[in-house]
Amino acid sequence: MAPDRFSYKNFTDELRERLSIVDVVGRRVPLTKKGQNYWGCCPFHNEKTPSFCVSEEKGFCKCFGCGESGDIISFTMKINNMDFKSAIEELANMAGLKMPEYKPRDPKIVQREESLFDICEKAAQTYAEKLFAPEASHALAYVRNRGFDDDMIKKYRIGYAPKNNIIANKYASSKNLIDSGLCRRGEFGMYDFFRDKLMFPIFNAKGRVVAFSGRSLDGSEPKYINTTDTEIFHKRKTVFGLNFARDAIHRANRSIVVEGQIDAIKMQVNGFPETVAPLGTALTEDHIALLCKSNRNITFCFDGDGAGQKAAGRACGIVMPFLRDTSDIKFAFVSGGKDPDEILKTGGVDAMRKIIDDAMPLVDFLWELANKNYIVSTPGGRAQAEKFIDAQLEKIADADLRKHYKQEYDKRKFQNWQSWKKPAKTVNIKLPDIDAITKNTLIYIVNTFPELAERYLEFLGTLGVDFDGTAPDLNLDVAAAEKYIVSLKLQRYLEKLNMQKRELTTQMLSGDESVRDEISRIDDEIEKYSEKLEVLISI
Ligand code: UTP
Ligand code: MN
Repeated sequence: MAPDRFSYKNFTDELRERLSIVDVVGRRVPLTKKGQNYWGCCPFHNEKTPSFCVSEEKGFCKCFGCGESGDIISFTMKINNMDFKSAIEELANMAGLKMPEYKPRDPKIVQREESLFDICEKAAQTYAEKLFAPEASHALAYVRNRGFDDDMIKKYRIGYAPKNNIIANKYASSKNLIDSGLCRRGEFGMYDFFRDKLMFPIFNAKGRVVAFSGRSLDGSEPKYINTTDTEIFHKRKTVFGLNFARDAIHRANRSIVVEGQIDAIKMQVNGFPETVAPLGTALTEDHIALLCKSNRNITFCFDGDGAGQKAAGRACGIVMPFLRDTSDIKFAFVSGGKDPDEILKTGGVDAMRKIIDDAMPLVDFLWELANKNYIVSTPGGRAQAEKFIDAQLEKIADADLRKHYKQEYDKRKFQNWQSWKKPAKTVNIKLPDIDAITKNTLIYIVNTFPELAERYLEFLGTLGVDFDGTAPDLNLDVAAAEKYIVSLKLQRYLEKLNMQKRELTTQMLSGDESVRDEISRIDDEIEKYSEKLEVLISI
């Protein structure tokens, strides 16, 4: 046997260099940065308060509760319950590195896989031929009616699975028919899994047929059936159309993900060659990881119905751990219960392009989700919405990026909570409006220091200022900014007290003695707060 040209050590070192332990652990355990390290709840024992510590610098994690510890490789092995080689494979995948060939693959396995590829290839040819047979006239009419021309039929190798058991009969001597997912064994022998279906082959990355998706032609449910997982086909890890789209994804520097495979095909041939679809409706982390190997710019395009909205929400949750500061993740919706296929048919490429161009950035989509799913006009709803957003942000592996997202949402919460709150009308005294300079200073402060906006939410909300505007840059640090707000608050309060006093004094002068006590209370208050203001200004 040829000596191993590859040294394990080099490759594991390269993995350690490329992957941050915070990213690797962060995909599985929500982490929060405290001091130098990241902390989370230990995935290896049950706990409610975080004692699982991850050190970016040391490339090491350790649980102070149960003692479990490790680096990226042993962590991956333990959390997935996998052996060393699979863990390396998984990490290589994450890092976008090609696994070096350690040794020739087990010839028995290779042979088995080859025989499965072979059956799938033969079946694809058989189905493709059958599409033009007389018995398939309804299928051919259907596919033409759906807008497939000959080139498309050829490129995507669309076929027809007849009503009889054509595969079981034709390839009866093949050993692995059942393992290929194409046939099943019944009481009366083998029968075909796909019968009277429009057939879409599913290709692996190298363009080999590994499975099929069959669409019913007579309106029967389910509309689509797919090959169940086999040794060469893993539905959760397969993205429909990726073999055709890969180059385009590189060129366009983004991928578009649609819900249906016909949608993906129509998009690809109509100017969006970078489009793919998950198989079945559920998008998985593996699908995203596959796409992220090319780049982290994904535009999700969902049907505008409730199911599409739900799927988008789920996609958003899945994509969070993959975010980097360069990622561009967007969500587009096809309104009116339509899908991309129908848009392209009725509105053409331009209508579709507009939908893709108008896609909503993730930061806005997540905000919208929180506002839609919770009743944010109530304190309870706001608490839930906040928890929801926080839970999503926890998944972001990059601590800096997470911080910036948090700041953005703090700002939004502040700006929106203003309108959520009913103005407190305790006194019927109206203070004069804030002048322009004060207003600009406040806008600057609120936009620069969201934490202050949060802290002085209630007060700021009483000022009647629209904080959405932009303000000139001021040279204020956070301490000075806070002092500014607090002194403004005191000034406004004193102003209010003085106005109240004036009002009451007028009442007293016109003979109402009952307000005398109230006036002296206000006098005390004025004295107390004037002192406070003086102290504050003198610091
Ligand atoms: P849709 O119900 O949106 O169908 O399912 P579609 O793609 O618009 O199909 P056409 O245009 O009527 O032919 C979206 C995707 O969900 C999967 C398929 O991959 C489908 O493309 N699906 C749907 C199934 O796997 N099984 C089903 O029964 C239905
Ligand atoms: Mn459709």
